[in-house]
Amino acid sequence: MWLPCGGTSNYIVTHFRRRLFKAYFRDLGRRRCNVAAFMPEAAGFDGVSDRSALQEFSVSNSESFWAAVARQRLSWIRPFHTVQDCDLSRGEIKWFVGGQLNVSVNCLDRHVHTCPERVALIWERDESGSEVKVTYRELLEMTCRLGNLLRRHGVKRGDCVTIYMPTCPLAVASMLACARIGAAHNVVFAGFSAEALAERIRDAQSGTVITVNQGVRGGKVTELKKTVDTAVQSCPAVQQVFVAMRTENPVAMTARDVAMEEVKYQTNWILIKILMSTAGDYKWHAVVQEMLKEDVVCEPAAMDSEDVLFLLYTSGSTGKPKGLVHTQAGYLLYAALTHRYVFSYHDGDVFGCVADIGWITGHSYSVYGPLANGGTTVLFESTPIYPDPGRYWEMVQRLKINQFYGAPTAIRLLLKYGDEWVHKYDRSTLKTLGSVGEPINTEAWEWYHRVVGDGRCPVVDTWWQTETGGICISPRPSDADAEIVPGMAMRPFFSIKPTLMDTEGKVLTSNDVSGALCIAQPWPGMARTIHNNHQRFIETYCRPHPGYFFTGDGAYRSKEGYYQITGRLDDVINVSGHRIGTAEIEDVLNQCAAVAESASHRVFSQFVQRLPKTRSGKIMRRVLRKVVERDLDGVGDLSTLDDPTAVQEIIQGHGDLC
Ligand code: PRX
Repeated sequence: MWLPCGGTSNYIVTHFRRRLFKAYFRDLGRRRCNVAAFMPEAAGFDGVSDRSALQEFSVSNSESFWAAVARQRLSWIRPFHTVQDCDLSRGEIKWFVGGQLNVSVNCLDRHVHTCPERVALIWERDESGSEVKVTYRELLEMTCRLGNLLRRHGVKRGDCVTIYMPTCPLAVASMLACARIGAAHNVVFAGFSAEALAERIRDAQSGTVITVNQGVRGGKVTELKKTVDTAVQSCPAVQQVFVAMRTENPVAMTARDVAMEEVKYQTNWILIKILMSTAGDYKWHAVVQEMLKEDVVCEPAAMDSEDVLFLLYTSGSTGKPKGLVHTQAGYLLYAALTHRYVFSYHDGDVFGCVADIGWITGHSYSVYGPLANGGTTVLFESTPIYPDPGRYWEMVQRLKINQFYGAPTAIRLLLKYGDEWVHKYDRSTLKTLGSVGEPINTEAWEWYHRVVGDGRCPVVDTWWQTETGGICISPRPSDADAEIVPGMAMRPFFSIKPTLMDTEGKVLTSNDVSGALCIAQPWPGMARTIHNNHQRFIETYCRPHPGYFFTGDGAYRSKEGYYQITGRLDDVINVSGHRIGTAEIEDVLNQCAAVAESASHRVFSQFVQRLPKTRSGKIMRRVLRKVVERDLDGVGDLSTLDDPTAVQEIIQGHGDLC
């Protein structure tokens, strides 16, 4: 700081100096105080007086930053001795080495001690208006009973349990029960075919499956138990299948199910029947007390920070599915911190992430992030247009949702139905709107902001991947009045160091450039390996740019230094020497009223009725590409395709090509 010295009178100078000093320290104190109110850990970081200094500190002192956050925000059984031990070029990633904890204790027990009756889950069932609330105490009991049940049936620490269930409290309790006893979970999206499920069960070497008799989504019933029956025929390692009742319809039990001891089976059946048939006003905990046989206390396993928490297979839109491995402490911490700061989640808020738990978004932002923060999280079982296109906003009104997190594909769809479906409902509780999964085009972004959020809620376009575990780039956290540019993910999260590479693999240092998006230093939430295939992990993410994590996406860094994701790199199109992502082309197309949605390819110029999509709603660009390349044999695994006739239509339309 510059201070005036010398002058006509020593008294005046000294007096003036004192006042300046006082003002300076008062201001510094206020800024420190602000940043510490924002993040208590920051009070201990040297030289951190405001939010941008905090961001810089987290990048250049990543170890100190994460050590402080880990100590403050997780409950440890044994403290860690080493913050990180990582070598990105070899794909060796370890965080919080020596530490032991239990994820379910962090998500449940510690909140039960302070606020047992706080609502943990609001299950927004497919049948609109029949939500079920589950408190932290109830969720802990459910988790412990399931943990005991699994243990009694021989599931051990290190085993892998496949969960093939719709989004519901029992699915969450199943995930947490695995975490409690030290088993890994492998949630498979309940829309996947028997073939896709079997492939994932086999690859995960899973011996236990948890499912439901039938699923219900968008008013349609799906035969989940039958799908499991078909799948396990080609999975010799599967010893047992636990079946829950989502509907009242009995299901045929197979020899495998009957082979289980009757009494154990009965216990399981009763447990599940109670939990799954719960309606809005149902006093289920009383019945649970009365009828359930399992103990409500289940000793949590002390897990090492780097033990596996779960496997999650990527959707398959980019080839053979990869079983990405996430571990205990780093993943949980990263999910919790991003949930709190990207969405500005405060105690008492109702967080509404509408992703299915079968995807990473459901894992990190319906389950682990909100629960680690002691939050109230909505589990959405339905679709955006069931029973009508006002479903989301009616739910926002009824459940008083404060943060809404959804996908551009749904926003684009709803936009076409018109504003009246939104205006019908009171959305005044909304504070933040989130977008994830694909680039959000300007038209959809503006509609989301102006119509859904009445122009007063920040829209956070969050970029991340199954591999990153949690959000890496998004407009927040930043000062409340910091600008947000439509359709841009913009700013890196704490400690994330995005780097753009040119085609020769050189780091692009200036702004207003496009390149391959890499991340220059490890962060706690990143995947550790691909299950059973570390070599593939190294080749995919570490080898393309040694020393960096390669995301497979392209990005543009604006003049101001903000990031915009341009799409997968293999979708980038070169027009007259300009690199253009498919997202930009689609952005233009989507602004035409007649176009519902689009997926572009260099030589693909035909209008079709619908696009081939995975059941999660991602356009299967790989399939489009192979059709135009006339390589039908190379189309590969179509088991995750939502509607196979969409591919047939395109192939027929390209008879001249194929
Ligand atoms: O291409 C990026 C796109 O989705 C990919 C990751 O897909 P998945 O692992 O299924 O996870 C989806 C949910 C995190 C990324 O490589 N993607 C994700 N978010 C965005 C995005 N593309 C543009 N903008 C986003 N906000």
